[in-house]
Amino acid sequence: MSAATADEVILDVRDLKVGFTVRAGRLPAVDGVDLTLRRGETLALVGESGSGKSALAMALVGLNRGPRTEIAGTADFHGENLLTARESRLRRIRGARIAVVFQDALAALNPLQRAGGQVVEMIRTHHQVPRAEAWRQTARLFGDVGIASPERSVRAYPHELSGGMRQRVMIALGLANNPEILIADEPTTALDVTIQAQVLQVLRDLQRDHGTAVILITHDLGVVAGVADRIAVMYAGRVVETGTREQVLFRPRHPYTRGLLASVPSLTGPVTGRLTAIGGSALTGVDRPPGCAFAPRCDLAGAGCSAPVPLLRRGTESGHLDACVAGGQP
Ligand SMILES: Nc1ncnc2c1ncn2[C@@H]1O[C@H](COP(=O)(O)OP(=O)(O)OP(=O)(O)O)[C@@H](O)[C@H]1O
Ligand SMILES: [Mg+2]
Repeated sequence: MSAATADEVILDVRDLKVGFTVRAGRLPAVDGVDLTLRRGETLALVGESGSGKSALAMALVGLNRGPRTEIAGTADFHGENLLTARESRLRRIRGARIAVVFQDALAALNPLQRAGGQVVEMIRTHHQVPRAEAWRQTARLFGDVGIASPERSVRAYPHELSGGMRQRVMIALGLANNPEILIADEPTTALDVTIQAQVLQVLRDLQRDHGTAVILITHDLGVVAGVADRIAVMYAGRVVETGTREQVLFRPRHPYTRGLLASVPSLTGPVTGRLTAIGGSALTGVDRPPGCAFAPRCDLAGAGCSAPVPLLRRGTESGHLDACVAGGQP
């Protein structure tokens, strides 16, 4: 990667909103998110269940469009707004230039088709490659993602592979066309910790070798510690803190981030008095308070938190922003 391209922004998301029409009204699943993704970097999107991580990722690639979904904002990918791109155009982008890997590989893979065959199809959907050559590429890819005996494994059916191997097949599927962006939505959540680490390492190596940018979605800050370059912390559809890995993990500013970190003792060391696990539950209904959505669960909340909604503000360090008017560290 040359220095000239290292900082190139390949995806620029501005004021992204995803609203779902539900019985109780309109659910603001994603409520005005800005993100920038640079070539070759890993951006981790973290937050509790229901914070809007998947809704955001799916909106980027047009996978949650429909009569009950309202999407607004822009997601600029090489000068093209993905949010308004035609479906036919998105089909060409998906799987080729932007790939998505989901959590549950067993559900995502076709049980009746050989694992390698699914990758072959993915390659041949986007490129005119002879079948035999696509199988050879697939075996090479299986080797790259650390699947044992790739020549043999390409012919296995998904149920014949272990969970960790199936997840690697999903990553191979995602990487089949050497995408610029890989969106990995909880790619390791279903796996045990050792296998998780292996799969994340595979992602990391491939990224280094191919310059792929990765959006890694997880509710687990421990997972991102080893692999993320930058982190965006989401709460109730908004980014409440963002910065480099070091800034967010070692100098967290938002009380929500600090609470999340407290639940990962391996990162923070023994839990100190100041850091206590977050009480209460996440805000997932249609009604949002006029101020900070985290305030009802926040020990530091004061009068200034009840209105207006706090905006992301720059702290003392460049690139480190947080949306707290009460407890943000100086
Ligand atoms: N198609 C849909 N229709 C209605 N509501 C939806 C739909 N998809 C998601 N939601 C709601 O939007 C909110 C955000 O969901 P989302 O799946 O993005 O959360 P998440 O951060 O990915 O959570 P998790 O960590 O559990 O995967 C939730 O309240 C969810 O119930
Ligand atoms: Mg999700």
